[in-house]
Amino acid sequence: MSATPHITVLLKEAVEALAIKPAGIYVDGTFGRGGHSRAVLAQLGPEGRLIAFDRDPVAVAAGREIKDPRFELVHAPFSDFAEALAERGVEKVDGVLLDLGVSSPQLDEAERGMSFRFDAPLDMRMDTTRGLTAAEWLAEAPVADITRVLREYGEERFAYEIAKAIAVARTGGAVATTGQLAALVEKTVRTREPGQHPATRTFQALRICVNQELEELSLVLPQVVAALAPGGRLVVISFHSLEDRIVKRFMRDASRPPQLPARLPVRAADLPKPKLALVGKPVWPSDDEVAANPRSRSAVMRIAERTED
Ligand SMILES: C[S@@+](CC[C@H](N)C(=O)[O-])C[C@H]1O[C@@H](n2cnc3c(N)ncnc32)[C@H](O)[C@@H]1O
Repeated sequence: MSATPHITVLLKEAVEALAIKPAGIYVDGTFGRGGHSRAVLAQLGPEGRLIAFDRDPVAVAAGREIKDPRFELVHAPFSDFAEALAERGVEKVDGVLLDLGVSSPQLDEAERGMSFRFDAPLDMRMDTTRGLTAAEWLAEAPVADITRVLREYGEERFAYEIAKAIAVARTGGAVATTGQLAALVEKTVRTREPGQHPATRTFQALRICVNQELEELSLVLPQVVAALAPGGRLVVISFHSLEDRIVKRFMRDASRPPQLPARLPVRAADLPKPKLALVGKPVWPSDDEVAANPRSRSAVMRIAERTED
């Protein structure tokens, strides 16, 4: 199966939101196929610098095409943010972009095992060099854990029934392929959501679990705030409500004065200042963008700026 090109979502809006200073240091936490990275490089001057991350070795190989001394691509999860920056002697950065989730090639290459549209080994890892595949996880996980994952990450009503069906199926051999899992879910889920394959929720939930997508996000956000220089921007594009909820809450909490017990003898001026200020309202793709790239329809972008200490 040949790779579908990745169409960058909110390209102009995200790069504008970074408010790029030509000599600044920027981080693209999710290189993908480099749509955002290339646009950032186009706005940076000769002194500027862009450090990008991707945990997918195929994305990293694609990024080797960019021969630019201002650019470096790190093969690591973005939760390694602080460590990777420290290794490079970078203390402060002027902007960080996270365009979360998976790229189109990851979804559309059958052998990644992320989609029920193709029959392939049930892998689902973004980083194929480490960690358990979805099949390996399903082979060992207790029914209670499978149920929780399907319920929390897929908001699947039939989470328990599917988990039980998986446990029964694996006694007769592993649930090893996307086709086997899709067929099992299709048999187990009794209702049909319009326009949606019955296995959609299960596949989303397992992908989030295998790649620890929500943990990664929760780990990186405080590291970004600690590294942003005053005036530096954090720009995050989310693709489902679980991610967006984490981003929204994090930005909201970091942009509020700390909650202290009432009647504490502290003057308002002595209170620590919030670390972030929200910038504008959430941004959604335009109707034209959604028409041209239906995968952008669930995207939402939030922007915050680091305050002065
Ligand atoms: C939506 S795509 C990014 C597309 C990119 N902005 C572009 O324009 O080409 C998300 C990419 O981030 C990577 N990714 C997702 N979560 C990651 C994480 N926790 N650490 C590092 N890379 C991650 C995926 O492997 C994927 O290549």
